[in-house]
Amino acid sequence: MNRPKVLVTRQIPEAALKLLRQHCEVVVNPYDRGMTREELLEGVRGKDGVLCLLTDIIDDEVYEAAGEQCKIFANYAVGYNNIDVQAATKRRIIITNTPGVLDDATADLAWALLFAVSRRIVEADRYTREGRFQIWGPMLYLGRDITGKTLGIIGAGRIGSNFGRKARGFDMKILYTNTKPNKKFEEETGAMYVDKETLLRESDFISIHLPLLSSTRHYIGEKELDMMKRTAVLINTSRGPVIDEKALVRALKEKKIWGAGLDVFENEPKLEPGLAELDNVVVVPHIGSATIETRTNMGLIAVKNMIQAFSGEIPDHCVNP
Ligand code: DGY
Repeated sequence: MNRPKVLVTRQIPEAALKLLRQHCEVVVNPYDRGMTREELLEGVRGKDGVLCLLTDIIDDEVYEAAGEQCKIFANYAVGYNNIDVQAATKRRIIITNTPGVLDDATADLAWALLFAVSRRIVEADRYTREGRFQIWGPMLYLGRDITGKTLGIIGAGRIGSNFGRKARGFDMKILYTNTKPNKKFEEETGAMYVDKETLLRESDFISIHLPLLSSTRHYIGEKELDMMKRTAVLINTSRGPVIDEKALVRALKEKKIWGAGLDVFENEPKLEPGLAELDNVVVVPHIGSATIETRTNMGLIAVKNMIQAFSGEIPDHCVNP
């Protein structure tokens, strides 16, 4: 039997490519950049499967270009808002994602941002590097305490609850909102299920862990920012458009909240004008899952999803079974 032909839209860790090459004829995007739309449409032509990224817009035009033989688009991410799943389902194309393996890495990065903003690590680093540190000062880079404070978690799924479990060492009171109560999470952490307004008004730190859906777009806007404490720290490692970034820039400029830590942006990779000039925000380039171990595991899972699909099985992480 002919080996399935596969396109990988960007270089991924070698262990995953090695496994894929054992089963398939593999073409990898040769450039150190994302594929252009034209390259993507050309690259998918005649392929049996595509291992794609969250930066690839996968829609009906792409499925049409790939052709009827195409079985699977395996997204190298847990989020799959870049993919038109409905159109894929109509064409009996399998869509998969990589849940679970990136929970720790993403939750860890949310904590790193929380610390960086609260203790002004980036500002203080810049000051020290620039040789401005002349003498210890009682008022130098005062931040905010974390221990004993109230942590608000928006979305207590796999990543949000992982993030919450890590708060136990800091004796924090945990509030959370979710589509439904997460009893296991409550038992593990003592977290309290509250409505959105209570969470926004009472939390010292708020971390967002929502998928991007039409219902979660601009989940945090001007009204919500106005409800937060003036000392609140907002963290987002999920998807940029869940925050109205214009409203956030205004709130940060006017010091309506203490600060924000952002791994994701509304118009990624562009930042809202004004954001990068602010000292009370820490920005990083969507690196939530960016550890060697996690990115390797994501690759292995995406490849396993493909191998399962090519052997006629429903892959473990099929999102349109
Ligand atoms: C995801 O998996 O959805 C992250 O945003 C990138 O790892």
